[in-house]
Amino acid sequence: SLSASELPDGALITVFQQEPMGLGHAIGCARSVVGDEPFAVMLPDDLILSDIPVMKQMVDAYAAAGGRGHMLAAQTVLPSEVHKYGILEVDTDAPSVGVMSVTSLVEKPDLSHAPSRLGVVGRYIFEPTIFEAIASQGGTVGGEIQLTDAICSDIVNVPVHGYRFDGARFDCGSAAGFVQANIAFGRQHHEVGPAIDQMLASGRPGIAAA
Ligand code: G1P
Repeated sequence: SLSASELPDGALITVFQQEPMGLGHAIGCARSVVGDEPFAVMLPDDLILSDIPVMKQMVDAYAAAGGRGHMLAAQTVLPSEVHKYGILEVDTDAPSVGVMSVTSLVEKPDLSHAPSRLGVVGRYIFEPTIFEAIASQGGTVGGEIQLTDAICSDIVNVPVHGYRFDGARFDCGSAAGFVQANIAFGRQHHEVGPAIDQMLASGRPGIAAA
């Protein structure tokens, strides 16, 4: 079988998850192509607008933190949104931007049981130890294999870092978030940005003159 290290940079390999068995299972499907080196996971429904791409911020922070273990992007989420995210427990006050040491994490807790309001956002760097952790999650018949549980179980083996990023994040898995992302990214675009700004400033949709 092919492994990433045997291919030129930028080569694409597609792997399909044949059953909807959860995010952890989906990542496990890529085990044979990743090989034995740290790798990135990006969930495309989390779109982030930033001067420096968040994955680039994380690759630099990961190297600076020793180049070992796992790193998860995180941001503070609203209390009403806590139950939609993996939530981190960290051992220090979270910096506004930068690395935190994760002592535990829990998937989609009730606000009353949440260890913090630091929600995991879909950018990760993993050491291949995560594949063993995912493989040992199996068990619940018909259930999902949660990435969050696999990461949590691996804390005893490797350091797990949270990374508070600099950037505006959009949840493109919701209709409103998808439209908001289009507006925000569109405003930044040299060609279409002025037209979008003009429409927003006028308070009227469409292009007709008043
Ligand atoms: C997944 C993860 C969750 C994470 C979220 C980020 O959840 O399970 O830990 O916080 O992505 O978007 P999903 O949004 O797929 O339910």
